[in-house]
Amino acid sequence: MNAPPTIGSTADVLVIFGITGDLARVMTFRSLYRLEQRGLLNCPIVGVAVDDWTIDQLVERARTSIAATGEQIDEGVFARFTARLSYVQGDFADDAAYTRVGAAIGAAKSPVFYLEIPPSLFATVVKGLAGAGLTANARVVIEKPFGHDLNSARALTAEVHQYLDESQIFRIDHYLGKLGLEEILYLRFANTMLEPVWNRNYVDCVQITMAEKFGIADRGHFYDPVGALRDVVVNHLMQVFAAVAMEAPAHGDLDTIKDLQTMLFRATRDADPQHYVRGQFDGYHDVAGVAAGSTTETFCALRLEVENWRWSGVPFFIRTGKLLPETETEVRLVFKPSPALGFGLRDARSQPDQLVMRLDPSTGMRILLNAQRMDAPKPGLVSLDMEFATEGGEGHTPYEVLLLAALTGGRTRFGRQDTIEEAWRIMQPLIENPSPILPYAPGSWGPAEADALVADNGGWRDPWV
Ligand code: BG6
Repeated sequence: MNAPPTIGSTADVLVIFGITGDLARVMTFRSLYRLEQRGLLNCPIVGVAVDDWTIDQLVERARTSIAATGEQIDEGVFARFTARLSYVQGDFADDAAYTRVGAAIGAAKSPVFYLEIPPSLFATVVKGLAGAGLTANARVVIEKPFGHDLNSARALTAEVHQYLDESQIFRIDHYLGKLGLEEILYLRFANTMLEPVWNRNYVDCVQITMAEKFGIADRGHFYDPVGALRDVVVNHLMQVFAAVAMEAPAHGDLDTIKDLQTMLFRATRDADPQHYVRGQFDGYHDVAGVAAGSTTETFCALRLEVENWRWSGVPFFIRTGKLLPETETEVRLVFKPSPALGFGLRDARSQPDQLVMRLDPSTGMRILLNAQRMDAPKPGLVSLDMEFATEGGEGHTPYEVLLLAALTGGRTRFGRQDTIEEAWRIMQPLIENPSPILPYAPGSWGPAEADALVADNGGWRDPWV
């Protein structure tokens, strides 16, 4: 194992394994281009892949990829960005590839290796880099998924820990680059109006919804062995759960924040397959790359329970799915109902107060309060809405945030091993005993059984669209 790199040291080269792949096309080129535009890119970039490409082909791929995201290309910025690029062709299983990478990075002392490659190759590349003596002061950024269950996550960690210290491993969950998560923490803990009611004395349930209007498109090969639970719940939505349910950090350092997240996960019971609904949209089997007769879920809904003083007795409901009616991600606190009182404050149709934090497609906060209106006989819900874009603007895209954090050594934006393993532990019963797969119509909110899950808490509330 190597000595950990100096935390905070700025990278002097970025090496991207898998630069000819899909993620680079959709996310990486654009994010790096935007960092260049903001004057935040300061090092050479070496692309590595098995394809026999020239540098001109790589530059052309960069141009088409950036343009395809809708970005208006500024030729000056683009020229500065592409002047940083070089390309190394190599088979990841071949030691010679790492010798060539070593030659390409030259005298760089603090390299960042970004592995946007299939998970089955992570350990091979880390071993190759270590064998070529390139990991001593390196950071290695690894894309999700980190394992496919608890045992495989542990095995992968054990494998990469042979060559890297934990502090050198930067595990990507792009939700950690989203502005919304930070906003949740700030709102919760910077407001005396909010923190005191954020617990089981006042909250009836918490509902986390990540709805996507689109389907699997050309990602069948990736998605079919994975499914909704592994694709977005065990990682992204557990980050949302952590932000809404963890205790207040006493310091802003990495370990304090991750410790609190891990403590919350430890206090969370193993998920119960009795409270787990899996759905598959009609037509899923026609998607290219999907196995015949596949029972992979494209929708799931589940209930989590936390045994601590803040949350005992408050169910956390999580649902996500493809081909739902909307694209929207939110977390919603549903408060306990007020008493009826004698002067007709409430009736059977009354709704409890709610607080919504929206993460996508834009960030914002909505508070639903009961108030009297002149046009109604009884109090009804009125909504106080705030779009964060009008209060300081939208932030940078998650991948810009994460790549910059990796380049500058900001580890809070990345997943820590014990937290990730706890998330797998919570989900493991659902993986081992998956409930039967239920069909749902595209454009619906998933199988009706998902409604039954929340029936005792007044059902799913319509998302803030
Ligand atoms: C990815 C999943 O990690 O996150 C996709 O693989 C999902 O299936 C995507 O659509 C959602 O990310 P975002 O940022 O659009 O909410």
